[in-house]
Amino acid sequence: MESVRIDVATPSRAYPVTIVDGALDRTAALLDEHSVPERRILVSSPLVWRLHGARLARSLDPAGTAAPILVPDGERFKHLATVSRIYDALVQTSADRGSTLVALGGGVIGDMAGFAAATYLRGIALVHVPTTLLAQVDSAIGGKVGVNHPLGKNLIGSFHQPHAVVVDPGVLGTLPRREFRAGLYEVIKYGMTSSHSLFDRLVRERKAIFGRTPEALTPVIAESCRIKASVVSLDERESGPRMILNFGHTAGHALEATTKFRHFRHGEAVAYGMLAAAQIAASRGALAELERQALADLIASLGPLPPVADISAAQIFTAMSHDKKAVAGRLRFVLPTAIGATTIADDVTESEIRAALKRVGFRA
Ligand SMILES: NC(=O)c1ccc[n+]([C@@H]2O[C@H](COP(=O)([O-])OP(=O)(O)OC[C@H]3O[C@@H](n4cnc5c(N)ncnc54)[C@H](O)[C@@H]3O)[C@@H](O)[C@H]2O)c1
Ligand SMILES: [Zn+2]
Repeated sequence: MESVRIDVATPSRAYPVTIVDGALDRTAALLDEHSVPERRILVSSPLVWRLHGARLARSLDPAGTAAPILVPDGERFKHLATVSRIYDALVQTSADRGSTLVALGGGVIGDMAGFAAATYLRGIALVHVPTTLLAQVDSAIGGKVGVNHPLGKNLIGSFHQPHAVVVDPGVLGTLPRREFRAGLYEVIKYGMTSSHSLFDRLVRERKAIFGRTPEALTPVIAESCRIKASVVSLDERESGPRMILNFGHTAGHALEATTKFRHFRHGEAVAYGMLAAAQIAASRGALAELERQALADLIASLGPLPPVADISAAQIFTAMSHDKKAVAGRLRFVLPTAIGATTIADDVTESEIRAALKRVGFRA
């Protein structure tokens, strides 16, 4: 199969995202092509390493001499103490400026290894080899790295663009179905904000996508990466255009926070957030009812979301008001105006928000 290459061009670094079935076996060649510093140190989690590590290791280290750095990867391990274990291993193996950290895993491993790479010796090279759909279409591109603080998610972090991103759709075969679906909601986000054709493809090829064949997945991942790459290239530090990727995230983050990050995968919370934002837009007459319904149908076609009937719209509204992205106390909403187009609104009222949340299933 043909490989797809997408270039990310930020002021701090330009780098390729390569998407191809079997990429794991070709990683060394891909990195050599792009002059990625030669001493490559792998960071992964025990589970991901067991499933996919051997193939990457065979490519990067045929002699099999270097041990990977393995750290746990649940959200609850995404903190400084885990990053510290990565630093310990780096010091022990005398990693230097000629070293590259290669992160093999989901968004948690990518964010932690990325933060270690951003800070060890004030910065060494980083390569992402993302293994969840969410990481492939979102977290591996754009340079945001970091960890949680006991008082809040992703409060400690930095920007550190990778030297390369290597995406192998084949690794998604082992992903639990719920994780796969959680990533698909972010893909719907890209379609809804930026690409009518991606949205249509998801509707048309849903079955094949769930079959997870590289033929079905590659175009979906590639189009998502293209959108993320173009937005990031315009706006590395998230001052303006990158905001559209926040579609569904205002209510989504509030739902995650309200339920203490225990009940919803991030993508599932974003699905509710997208439904609520589309409802606000439709109620204002900014989005055609037919298009709101098309979004709701596509989300429903992926399967049921965890219920929200026991969570009140008022609770979500309160959590939203505490969002770190609220500017001067005003909530900024990314509202869809059509499939593939958005606008930013900072005049959405509390009663509009609460009404929309009720319409999508929250209790009064
Ligand atoms: N940096 C960014 O721009 C950015 C963007 C979005 C999300 N994030 C972060 O990403 C994190 C979520 O990432 P995630 O959804 O990938 O979760 P994750 O990294 O926790 O992975 C989810 C689960 O899947 C397992 N897994 C990973 N790859 C697998 C595979 N191929 N087969 C089987 N199991 C596999 C992991 O072990 C884990 O249990 C959050 O911490 C979020 O803050 C960062
Ligand atoms: Zn997201």
